[in-house]
Amino acid sequence: MKNRTCITVMIMIFLLIIPQLSRAQLPKETEAQKVQRMKWWTEARFGMFIHWGLYSMPARHEWIMNRERITAEEYRKYFGMFEPDLYNPKEWAVMARQAGMKYVVLTAKHHEGFCLFDSEYTDYKSTNTPVKKDLVKEFVEAFRAEGLKVGFYYSLLDWHHPDYTIDRNHPMRQETDAAYEKLNRGKDMNKYREYMKNQVRELLTNYGEISIIWFDFSFPGKNGKGRDDWDSENLLKLARSLQPGIIVDDRLDLGDVEGGWDFTTPEQYKVAGWPEVDGRRVPWETCQTFSGSWGYYRDETTWKSPAQLLELLIESVSKGGNVLLNVGPTARGEFDYRAQERLNAMGKWMRVNSRSIYGCTEAPEGFTSPENTLLTYNPATNRLYIHLLAYPLGSLTLANMADKIKYVQFLHDASEISMSAPREGNKNDLSLTLPVLKPAVEIPVLEIFLK
Ligand code: GLC
Repeated sequence: MKNRTCITVMIMIFLLIIPQLSRAQLPKETEAQKVQRMKWWTEARFGMFIHWGLYSMPARHEWIMNRERITAEEYRKYFGMFEPDLYNPKEWAVMARQAGMKYVVLTAKHHEGFCLFDSEYTDYKSTNTPVKKDLVKEFVEAFRAEGLKVGFYYSLLDWHHPDYTIDRNHPMRQETDAAYEKLNRGKDMNKYREYMKNQVRELLTNYGEISIIWFDFSFPGKNGKGRDDWDSENLLKLARSLQPGIIVDDRLDLGDVEGGWDFTTPEQYKVAGWPEVDGRRVPWETCQTFSGSWGYYRDETTWKSPAQLLELLIESVSKGGNVLLNVGPTARGEFDYRAQERLNAMGKWMRVNSRSIYGCTEAPEGFTSPENTLLTYNPATNRLYIHLLAYPLGSLTLANMADKIKYVQFLHDASEISMSAPREGNKNDLSLTLPVLKPAVEIPVLEIFLK
């Protein structure tokens, strides 16, 4: 009896160990090494997302195939007519740089399955459309020339690949298990997993140094897909082996795996505070659209104003995070005029105020932001930045900071701001005298040299 128990226990241990053994080992690194690897990204704070694909032709959301339940055959009409004749990524790259963006992430393939690059593993690619070009190749060269780091978004979902099984996020989604089973008969996800690996290998081999890979997305559970469906660990291992410095988002469903992700991705909302995992602050980047859609959406009108967008950027930095702001180019290959207007406005502000963004983070404890302001802090220069969201009348009081402050100036023109003890209140409060006229910058910034 005893022996039998012993054998059973041994078999159980063995069964538990086997999956671990077959699991790919992700490269190990210390916390300090990770911080170092991500340093450029953390300091950059501001990047451009680009969603471009066949969906820019119907121009009513990049999920149109799903929303309108369009079959792959019907959708192919766009493929036959895709001809972005005005595509000039040099112009895009200049606009991104002038807006103050330091990196860019392009949808090499979105959920529709269409590839903007010349992949050996599919015919469903830009080189086979009337434009006849590897759009990724020109893109990569143009953005690099402007000094931006280049990254790729790669969709895990694929509504075109014949072996990708129908799931609850698919245009051909079903009501019953039996219906799913019937449609999925003969589909071989193994082949699709292989396809993804082949394409990720191409993307991370053929285009030079790639700094970011943005896998999107997992939806485990009933009729969903998660790490086993994508073979996430091996996909990630492949990516890290081809581009050792690469920075990876958190949508492979590897949240609990060491080295399974680098930063978290709050989408289309402002976080309440610096996101934490197991009580520890983690690197984060919020991805946001100018309006409600990622792909070019002609008739969408809920565009955020430059002030709202700047506030989003400043607030994210004030909580230790990045912003990845999206442009959905048109099917002619240009940035929508509304996007251009906003990029211009942000660039105008960034030209004189980016010192409060790059390399900055949350203010140290002990600095409380006055009403209607946001604080950021640069630990390398020991300067504090106060962003005046609503311009105060005449003066601004800084609570309990007098002993910490050496000098104050407007950031945009380096003009001195005079300081005095306030008429009333705490002895350690400091009163700043501001001009009555709001300076001609969207959100004025005070630069404070700390002692
Ligand atoms: C979502 C959407 C997608 C978009 C992405 C950006 O996951 O599926 O359309 O690309 O968010 O974060």
